[in-house]
Amino acid sequence: MPLVALKEILTKAQRGHYAVGGFNFNGYEDAQGIVNAAVAVNSPIILMASQRACQYIGLHQSVGLISGMAKSVDVPVCLFLDHATDMTFIREAIKAGFTAVMVDASAEEYETNIRISKEVVSFARNYNCSIEAELGKIGGKEEYVVVEDRAVTFTEPSDVPRFVEETGIDALAVAFGSAHGYYKSEPKLDFDRLEAILKVTDCPLVLHGGSGIPVRDVQKCIAMGLVKVNVGTELKAIFSSTLRRMCAQLPESQIEPKKYMQPVKDAVAASVKEILIALGSENKA
Ligand code: G3H
Ligand code: ZN
Repeated sequence: MPLVALKEILTKAQRGHYAVGGFNFNGYEDAQGIVNAAVAVNSPIILMASQRACQYIGLHQSVGLISGMAKSVDVPVCLFLDHATDMTFIREAIKAGFTAVMVDASAEEYETNIRISKEVVSFARNYNCSIEAELGKIGGKEEYVVVEDRAVTFTEPSDVPRFVEETGIDALAVAFGSAHGYYKSEPKLDFDRLEAILKVTDCPLVLHGGSGIPVRDVQKCIAMGLVKVNVGTELKAIFSSTLRRMCAQLPESQIEPKKYMQPVKDAVAASVKEILIALGSENKA
């Protein structure tokens, strides 16, 4: 089927009380592994490319690649531009056919964040593209976006209603203890804060920095009402460790790329499958 807008996927998730996985990809193998996992468990899926991944793959190539995969399967697939900060690039991605964009103006002051996020929402209005924004500052490093520990700012529940209303966004990334990349110690999520945010808005909420958060904590967030969980680092680690293993195992005379890359694709798929089941999106396609 054609690529699906994020809003459609998340509205269904809110009604069904489950979450949908947003997975970062960097090329064909991991993307196809992610889609294969979604098909295997009959789940909707969100494929997320960072600005840098789009520059690596090519913007139109990314759309061609993922829309080709979407057309060959019967599960809803959303193509998502992740943590985008460059307005020109955002407009190009929307015009090219991305069905969701996260505009990341979280480094800006509240009013500026509203203005920028609103501008993207109004540009996207003429396209089949949903918009996610971030309020508060999620810690860690996500390619171009780096937030040191001392700069982390949890989302203030009282800031949420006006932000959602004025911007018109379709999903909100909230900061309540998760971080991008590897955790230095076990993450401590502020569930009371999440609950307070859920009380003041119906906007679908997103958990960033999903790699390394204990499954029981992620499931608690979902039971409370959060509907999108982002995972990136975990897949990068599986991709590279599998590739390293194949290079060590296969003889130098083996020059067939598929022999190296098929296990990478399969390892990514196995990991994504497990996550989708944990999120409760199995058989929700
Ligand atoms: O936007 C991407 C995600 O928040 C990924 O975070 O790499 O820590 O899993 P992660
Ligand atoms: Zn993120």
